[in-house]
Amino acid sequence: MSAAHAADATRGSLRSRVRRQRRGLEDAARSAADQALVSNILALRQYARARAIAVYCAFDGEPALDEFVADACRRGKRVYAPVLSGAGMRFARWHPTAGMRRNAFGFAEPVNAAAIDPRSLDLVLVPLVAFDRNGARLGFGGGYYDRCFAFLRARRAWFRPKLVGVGYAFQELAHIERQPWDVPLWGAVTDTGIHHFEQTGTQ
Ligand SMILES: Nc1ncnc2c1ncn2[C@@H]1O[C@H](COP(=O)(O)OP(=O)(O)OP(=O)(O)O)[C@@H](O)[C@H]1O
Ligand SMILES: [Mg+2]
Repeated sequence: MSAAHAADATRGSLRSRVRRQRRGLEDAARSAADQALVSNILALRQYARARAIAVYCAFDGEPALDEFVADACRRGKRVYAPVLSGAGMRFARWHPTAGMRRNAFGFAEPVNAAAIDPRSLDLVLVPLVAFDRNGARLGFGGGYYDRCFAFLRARRAWFRPKLVGVGYAFQELAHIERQPWDVPLWGAVTDTGIHHFEQTGTQ
């Protein structure tokens, strides 16, 4: 097996293990963790400042962001959700009352909403399968976030948007091998706290 294939296989088995653990969370533990997690996101300084925020629609046992979205809408922030088309991902305005439909992957996305240039987002809540202390991330494996935010890899300083991973504390792994295309996270929020990563290797 080549080194690249071995790395793919490792990423694949890590993804399945963490996803299984996440789907297996008991209801009571899940709702307590979701509540703690949302409080931690609400406490972010970057949230207070943000005007345009991308969220995700929970799927496969991901932490629910409903309470967060409700708070953001109350504060008059503009909220966007991912819309997938082929290999691409756009972010479309999400009004709590607007139509949503289930896409081919099985998660909800806004219907007929205008997309925002991802450079105009202030804060992006990025769904995680796993993350590490250096800001490396494993998602579902489609490379959607890496392609959409590839422009951040060319930056010398982190401006916007801030990519903040969202997951449960058990989704933190000791080390994730970062691939050349991976866009590192600026931070991560879990049910037990907030992490801000040193920005080494972001250019
Ligand atoms: N900027 C890019 N240009 C072209 N291909 C890319 C780019 N970024 C990622 N990819 C491709 O996407 C594939 C999956 O990437 P990766 O394993 O990092 O997924 P992921 O970050 O876990 O997925 P997701 O963000 O969808 O949850 C890789 O095979 C990679 O070649
Ligand atoms: Mg990646």
